[in-house]
Amino acid sequence: MRTDTAAERFPAAAPIAPGRVPLAGHAARLHRDPLRFVRELRRHGPVTRIYIGPRPVHFVTSPDIVRELLTSQARSFDKGAMFDALRGPLGDGLITASGDRHLRHRRLVQPAFHHARIARYADVMSERSLARAAAWKPGTTIDLVPQIHRLTLDTLLATLFADPQDPELHTAVEGWLSVKYHSMRLALSPIDAWAERIPLLPGWRPPDAGPLRRLVAVQERIIGAYRATGRDRGDLLSMLLLTGGPDDALTDAEVTDELITLFLAGTGTVSASLAWALYEISRRPDVQRRLHDELDTALAGRAPGFDDLPALVRTRQVLTEALRLHPPSWLLMRRALRPVTLGGVRLAPGAEVFFSPYALHRDPELYDDPDRFDPERWPRQSAVRAPRHTYLPFGAGTRLCVGEDFAWTELTLALAAFLGQRRLTPADSTPVRPLVGTVLRPDRLPLTAHARPS
Ligand code: HEM
Repeated sequence: MRTDTAAERFPAAAPIAPGRVPLAGHAARLHRDPLRFVRELRRHGPVTRIYIGPRPVHFVTSPDIVRELLTSQARSFDKGAMFDALRGPLGDGLITASGDRHLRHRRLVQPAFHHARIARYADVMSERSLARAAAWKPGTTIDLVPQIHRLTLDTLLATLFADPQDPELHTAVEGWLSVKYHSMRLALSPIDAWAERIPLLPGWRPPDAGPLRRLVAVQERIIGAYRATGRDRGDLLSMLLLTGGPDDALTDAEVTDELITLFLAGTGTVSASLAWALYEISRRPDVQRRLHDELDTALAGRAPGFDDLPALVRTRQVLTEALRLHPPSWLLMRRALRPVTLGGVRLAPGAEVFFSPYALHRDPELYDDPDRFDPERWPRQSAVRAPRHTYLPFGAGTRLCVGEDFAWTELTLALAAFLGQRRLTPADSTPVRPLVGTVLRPDRLPLTAHARPS
């Protein structure tokens, strides 16, 4: 009698997705319509192989195998080629670190994001958002994308550094952010895949390390001033400096890397989420009315604060749904460190594995009518906890976003601040398009503000 082993039930090599062409692989299709491309891959199996130029990548489309990748098999993987490429221009903090370095940094950075600490940052988040909303005169139309970018950067800087800011900090961060976007695009692009083999390909240039050097210099100055007093100023930086015992604390260079990582991780993602949420709300008067009712009842005109979060149930539902339909981290990746079998597919060391929160969130087998924006699909409990691995805006497992609670707090307070003061309507009928970079964000968001209560 014959019994199937796992190796027989699943192919040892994943099937190649249709549409591969010589040299370019699937790069043209991935480039032309990446969101559609990643959604369609589920048709070809739970793990399928695609080629970005010459580079093979295993693409996981099954939530169970994503769970395996992120939890039970997590130790067999690091973050992969893109993150190697980012280390030079962006530094080596939690996002790029691997192995023991990651474990140590994670343990030391985590206290800066404890609940009690976030409660302190919440005042800054609320104040900044209220000021931005108040400055938006009723009856005027603005493109909210740059406004929101400024707001989230401002909020992050003010939660990182409580004291009067170094005059060069803003410029240094902005300069570094532009390199960040450039480097991340390069690291993901098929051209970069080619450049690994032909480094002198025209058009490819290594990312400029100058902005990182300038930002590091400013931060060293700020860290020096903090060390001189040793005081906890209630901000994120104090926590990074005070964490760990005498033999284990983060060094100045490590703190600098972590600060830079927080700029990298905590700006584009938050601003994209807030923009998508406001986009959906502005197009749905019924959803907006329910949010206004909730805010009027819960806040009665007061400024929103940390203690109000449990009462803002509908606001949280709207954000949960916005992050399902438009997860900023739409594509995530890992690389095998050793021979490993994932979902029955054998991977050699160095094999790259991708998965897409966007594709999972719009999989019709996981969500009814997945393209519909429906906040009511989420339970009313104040802390919406969707099953991990089918809902992954913040990832999962050992590399789960360390800023998740920070982000929920910031997003909820920002929505409360904007909608407490304004009613929003779309300014024109030109469709808003998703820009698909390392972060998925709207290309523009022209909205008109109206006075409230109206
Ligand atoms: C809505 C906003 C945010 C989204 C959608 C988001 C998403 C993510 C995702 C998906 C990961 C895991 C990446 C992977 O598994 O490869 C991650 C990691 C991370 N995020 Fe966030 N993030 C957000 C906000 C923030 C904020 C506000 C901060 C900090 C201020 C932050 C800091 C980090 C860090 C440091 C990591 C690396 C954690 C590790 O590897 O141990 N994120 N984020």
